[in-house]
Amino acid sequence: MSYRIALNFEDGATRFIDCNPGEKVLDAAFRQKVNLPMDCSDGVCGTCKCRCEQGTYDLGDDYIDEALTADEAEEGLVLTCQMEVSSDCVIEVPVPSSACKLAPAVHRGKVSSVRMVSDSTIILTLQVDDPQALAFLPGQYVNLTVPGTDQHRSYSFSTKPGAKEASFLIRNIPGGLMSTWLASAPAPGTGMTFVGPQGSFFLRTINRPTILLAGGTGLAPILSMLEVLADTGTDQPIHLIYGVTKDADLVELDRIEALAARIPSFTWATCVADQASAHPLKGYVTEHLSDAHLNAGECDVYLCGPPPMVEAVRVFLKDKGVEPRHFHYEKFAPSEGTATGAAG
Ligand SMILES: Cc1cc2nc3c(=O)[nH]c(=O)nc-3n(C[C@H](O)[C@H](O)[C@H](O)COP(=O)(O)OP(=O)(O)OC[C@H]3O[C@@H](n4cnc5c(N)ncnc54)[C@H](O)[C@@H]3O)c2cc1C
Ligand code: FES
Repeated sequence: MSYRIALNFEDGATRFIDCNPGEKVLDAAFRQKVNLPMDCSDGVCGTCKCRCEQGTYDLGDDYIDEALTADEAEEGLVLTCQMEVSSDCVIEVPVPSSACKLAPAVHRGKVSSVRMVSDSTIILTLQVDDPQALAFLPGQYVNLTVPGTDQHRSYSFSTKPGAKEASFLIRNIPGGLMSTWLASAPAPGTGMTFVGPQGSFFLRTINRPTILLAGGTGLAPILSMLEVLADTGTDQPIHLIYGVTKDADLVELDRIEALAARIPSFTWATCVADQASAHPLKGYVTEHLSDAHLNAGECDVYLCGPPPMVEAVRVFLKDKGVEPRHFHYEKFAPSEGTATGAAG
């Protein structure tokens, strides 16, 4: 039996490696052609220092304080040349993937279906050529090449890792490059290429009440997280508020309902910004975020949607003086650049 380690690089790229019991993470990475930063390989220089975000491990006592102080170890910093893991782990590597001689991981799939579920939303499902090779953390995204061009667009998985089919929830932007290609109804079996996974917006271990806030197709990574939670289970309250502009933008409600049936501590609400809507909850997600949900800041928040929505929630929390224990967000910025972040 071996453990799965997600190595998250500074440039947002993630690479998964297997690590055997008793094997040092640095050695496991090298065996799998990932050259993590290192020098002495002996717990002396500190060059291999990384941060363990998630998982359990042992550092032993064969390293010196100059390489890793007790305070650093307490904070979750690790020396990969000393680290032996006892569970799956997520490790943040403080250098870009290119510094570890890693070429971008390219994956291929074939279109299974393209469904126009509303005027504003398209669900693209791909049959993944090699699902085993496509490891990702729930919440992460890939860069999909628009067929027939050299352009790519970023999309978050709405399905869980390990599935044979990967789905994406895509906003239909009239005239947009990917939107236009999808609207042309590509035939099932059409090949697509994508690179990743990418991003630090992913589900961490749930240790406290958790709020999920989704704007429009920002629901995609949240669905992936919920799929995993439905499998792993949690006793902590999880509350989703899914906000859209118009009634027709609300999609995947049956799927959320089915997930709610599998996660007893999960509650959810939808809201529609359009004041002409007949929806019982009108306005923005912030208008439906109660003090009970915010739990005086003793909560983790995952927020995803268009940049103005993400900013509005950040300002709302700041004005309210609420600082969640952990605040993870992803902005679905237009293709010039990505913006992912975390606070707390
Ligand atoms: C990390 C990350 C993850 C993402 N995940 C998703 C996802 O899961 N689902 C999803 O639908 N989108 C997601 N996006 C946005 C996505 O990558 C594309 O930008 C978007 O789908 C537009 O692509 P397009 O080719 O159809 O339009 P483009 O050809 O890129 O754009 C056409 C025109 O529309 C404008 N435009 C582009 N996007 C927007 C927007 N959001 N709002 C207003 N105007 C816009 C452009 O500036 C341009 O003028 C993500 C973005 C990032 C950075
Ligand atoms: S490589 Fe020198 S301490 Fe790990």
